[in-house]
Amino acid sequence: MNDLAGKHVVLGLSGGIACYKAAELCRALIKAGASVQVVMTEAAAQFITPVTMQALSNRPVYTSQWDVREHNNMAHINLSREADAILIAPCSADFIARLLHGRADDLLSLLCLARPIAQVPLLIAPAMNREMWAHPATQRNLAQLQADGATLLGVGSGFQACGETGDGRMLEPQELLEDVIAFFQPQRLAGQQVLITAGPTYEAIDPVRGITNLSSGKMGFAIARAAREAGAQVTLVAGPVGLPTPRGVTRVDVRSARDMFEAVMQHAQAAALFVATAAVADWRPASAAAQKIKKDGTGQCPSMAFTENPDILASVAQSPRAQSGALFCVGFAAESHDLLAHASAKRARKGVPLLVGNIGPATFGQDDNALLLVDEHGAHELPRASKLELARQLIANIADRIRAAA
Ligand code: CTP
Repeated sequence: MNDLAGKHVVLGLSGGIACYKAAELCRALIKAGASVQVVMTEAAAQFITPVTMQALSNRPVYTSQWDVREHNNMAHINLSREADAILIAPCSADFIARLLHGRADDLLSLLCLARPIAQVPLLIAPAMNREMWAHPATQRNLAQLQADGATLLGVGSGFQACGETGDGRMLEPQELLEDVIAFFQPQRLAGQQVLITAGPTYEAIDPVRGITNLSSGKMGFAIARAAREAGAQVTLVAGPVGLPTPRGVTRVDVRSARDMFEAVMQHAQAAALFVATAAVADWRPASAAAQKIKKDGTGQCPSMAFTENPDILASVAQSPRAQSGALFCVGFAAESHDLLAHASAKRARKGVPLLVGNIGPATFGQDDNALLLVDEHGAHELPRASKLELARQLIANIADRIRAAA
């Protein structure tokens, strides 16, 4: 994925053991298409050498404001004017304090102060011991830095190099990469609450067997990520899948269609958008056996009665909030043939303004897909692309519809 193509990032390292993660981060940014200019403080160079960062970024590293390689000897101006963003990772407690006070006695703090504040965003990935993180001075400084326009990318929690356990670890390189990619996405759903279902459901036959389907959950998880990137607060109600939770998304794990129904009804109260991608089982065994069903030796198969599951999407679409236009509902249809006809019929049956059709066998478990958007006016195709790319296009399309309806 070339999510950062054309972006130029100044990656600033201040002193901390998390500098070892900055090497991986630098590679990840470049693999995502960014060009990276590394700037290090003197303290950072105690933890990792500029040679390593130069080799990874394929550019000479800057460590001093007296760098004679710059013709005008103004590295702080030249470096900050070229950047689409400055990312400080790791950002030590001391460096946070320096930024807060507008100090300018080393190159990295100097270029942060000199950056055109409206054009060059400053992103901060703190890294420190848990006591330093929790200290009122650090928290006060961070609050003020955010008020001054910096974006705080948060910290991880867990075992720290000092031997203690708690908050303050620098986020992992892949987490930071996701955050940087998200930062550059248009904020089309800023502040909106979005509810998404994803994956299959599992309907128990007995304690060890059940009925499920081949839905991987990938499309729904990609939509959750795209909605969060667009600035939404996202709740993802997921059936049994082993996918990692997208950054910043609240995940509610469920098993059966009825569990999913309850979770959705609870969270739909506050949502402005509901996207139902889950492949919900239409029926469940009328009664699940309390104990494993055993063969009785006669060769006779057990017979099974089924009962219909609640239709989650149709129920939400009929709720007063959806009917009044406060909640926009989007359904999915996985078909094997006659996509347009089936999707149009399903849209009417479910009572939703937008239904997204795809060919089930061609998409289940795959990383790419093609979508057909069906609304009251007709159909519009989103051609084959990665599920994340399609998810971003779909979210942009839905955001336009929500804005037009407001
Ligand atoms: N859906 C739901 N609750 C159900 C069944 C489906 O919310 N109990 C949602 C799905 O998440 C999806 C859409 O409804 O958004 C799919 O509709 P559905 O009629 O279930 O599709 P199919 O099962 O494929 O229907 P059919 O058997 O008629 O093809």
